[in-house]
Amino acid sequence: MDGNGRWAAQRGLPRITGHENGAAALRTVTETCCEIGVGCLTVYAFSTENWKRPPEEVHALFGLLEHFLAAELPTLLANNIRLRAIGRIHELPPTAREALHSTMERTASNTGMNLVLAINYSGRAELEDAVRSVCQEVAAGTLRPEDFTQDHLQRHLYTCEWPDPDLLIRTSGEMRLSNFLLWQLSYTELYVTPKCWPDFGREDLIEAVRDFHRRKRRFGGI
Ligand code: IPE
Ligand code: MG
Repeated sequence: MDGNGRWAAQRGLPRITGHENGAAALRTVTETCCEIGVGCLTVYAFSTENWKRPPEEVHALFGLLEHFLAAELPTLLANNIRLRAIGRIHELPPTAREALHSTMERTASNTGMNLVLAINYSGRAELEDAVRSVCQEVAAGTLRPEDFTQDHLQRHLYTCEWPDPDLLIRTSGEMRLSNFLLWQLSYTELYVTPKCWPDFGREDLIEAVRDFHRRKRRFGGI
C-alpha cells in the first residue's frame, strides 16, 4: 500500500492524512475483493524497516491501525472476512497488538476471504524465523538434515496456511519488492500502477484483475 506520503505531499497535507486516506482505500479494496471472490488479500501495512521513520509517524500509524480495526469490525463480520496478521506481531506496541489479537479472535470463525495484514513484516525476517524453527527441529532430533526439503521450509513460513499469491499489485510506480513475501512471490504475476495507494479504488482493482486474466502463466513450462 505505497504512496500515502506522496499523495499527501502533492496536496500540501500532513503524511498522516495520507495514511488515513490509505486506510479508506483499504476498506474499498477489501470489499471489492470480497465481491469478486478473492480468497486471500494480503496487504503490506508496516515493514520491519519502517521503524526508521520519525517516532511521531510510527506512533500515528499504530494509532491508525487500532482505529481501523475498531471501525472495520462490523464490515469484517458482515462480509464473513477472517482477519489474520503476519510479521513479528509480538514486537508491536501493546495496545495495537491487543486490538489485533481481539479482531483476529472475533473473526476467527468467519469462512469467507482472509484479510492478512503484514505488520512489522519483511520477507527476510520471515525466512530467518522459518529457518530458525527448522534448526530447532534438527537440534531436537525430530528432523534429519537429509530429510529437509523446500516443502518443509514452506510449512514454517507465516503464510503456511495460504497458497502463494497469484497477483501482486504495487502502487505508486515503484519497481521493487521491498522485502515483501520474497519466497511466496516466485511465480506471482506483478502489476505496477503509478497511482498512489489512497487513489487506488474499485475500478483500479478490477482493471488489475482483468490484466491478470490476460497473462499466460507457464510456471517454467512451455
Ligand atoms: C504507505 O505509504 C506505506 C506505509 C509504510 C504505511 P508511504 O508512507 O510509504 O508513502 P510514500 O512512499 O512516502 O509516498
Ligand atoms: Mg513508500
